[in-house]
Amino acid sequence: MAFTFLRMQRTRLLLIPAFVLTLVVFYLVGQNHYQIGSALSSATRPIWDQAEGPSNIVTHYYSEGLDIEESVCRLHNWPERKDEKVKVLDAILISTELDLLEIRLNELDPVVDRFFILESNATFTGLPKEASFSLNRKRFAKFDKKISYRLVPGYPLEEGQSPFEQESNARNQMTKLLRAHMTEFLPDTKSIVIMSDIDEIPAAHTIELLRTCDFGQSIHLQLRNYVYSFEWLVGFTSWRASVHLWGPDSYYRHSQSGDTVLADAGWHCSYCFRTIPEYVTKMKGFSHADRIGGRLELLDPQRIQDTICHGKDIFGMLPEAYNYVDLLSALSLEPLTTAVGLPLFLIENAERFKFLLPGGCLREIPRPPTETGSVIGDIGR
Ligand SMILES: *[C@@H]1O[C@H](CO)[C@@H](O)[C@H](O)[C@H]1NC(C)=O
Repeated sequence: MAFTFLRMQRTRLLLIPAFVLTLVVFYLVGQNHYQIGSALSSATRPIWDQAEGPSNIVTHYYSEGLDIEESVCRLHNWPERKDEKVKVLDAILISTELDLLEIRLNELDPVVDRFFILESNATFTGLPKEASFSLNRKRFAKFDKKISYRLVPGYPLEEGQSPFEQESNARNQMTKLLRAHMTEFLPDTKSIVIMSDIDEIPAAHTIELLRTCDFGQSIHLQLRNYVYSFEWLVGFTSWRASVHLWGPDSYYRHSQSGDTVLADAGWHCSYCFRTIPEYVTKMKGFSHADRIGGRLELLDPQRIQDTICHGKDIFGMLPEAYNYVDLLSALSLEPLTTAVGLPLFLIENAERFKFLLPGGCLREIPRPPTETGSVIGDIGR
């Protein structure tokens, strides 16, 4: 009896702190429900969500100076394209990332026959934005002969319309642009189309490989995934970019089109902007703008700058990862101290593209034009 009584006493004593703790937890949850909700869904994502993307990974063989010819095709288990006439087309949707565009055009110029560039005067969330490319056409004069450009007028979102509709509309427009141009080529010409966002840059040697060897109807490109700059490597997690042998049923897509992916085929630099306002525009204009969840403090310039310099998550929540290894590594990014194996044009112009390289995390912010004559100034920390 005494024994049971003691146990009841102890249970009652334990109940008080447990009650207090419950109150504290409820309070904290109430205060931070949005962050907690998203953190929980991210932290448990490996359980409720299957990893997306192609699973058949083709080992990629390359070293600087390698001549890509029949024996290299054989190494990848592909036949060489013999006497086929092949044109390589790069189809790009751009928003504001002119620096990445310049790096991309220079990287791919030797292996691409035609660039298709499409931009809008609105973000996917329907906010007005500059048609950056068309305003800066001179900067790309060197490639003018190869560029086919189209401006797609954008409008504020109508009620019930989702940003994803705008995005898919832009992709449909690109399909039309590509179809219209296919008729210019001779009927016996095969067209290989690179389908990737502006920040997903295939390496020139990858495209040379895919032009030389017959990889089939389509193949995804596994890209090294960086955030903010080439200082922060998340992993080899990017797979949406793809290359297609264009056919009558082809369309411009950013979704999974097959199960094969070529390993280590280039670079995906997410949120790699030169200035802080571009971060704000992107965060507001992203198809996933709901991630901001009304938390306007996320758009604070100093917070964004700190986030970039510390390799943290720009939305202030756990990264979306599909297994716990990725999740853990994405939470504790270590800054890289190497800039080996990056696009040639970037390294040749390292001074101008300092913000993309290790140690260059401080972003420029445009000064109010009245203050000085110059438009671009440095932000202090
Ligand atoms: C984009 O341009 C079109 C055509 O010039 C115009 O009607 C439309 O209002 C513009 N959209 C925005 C968001 O400014």
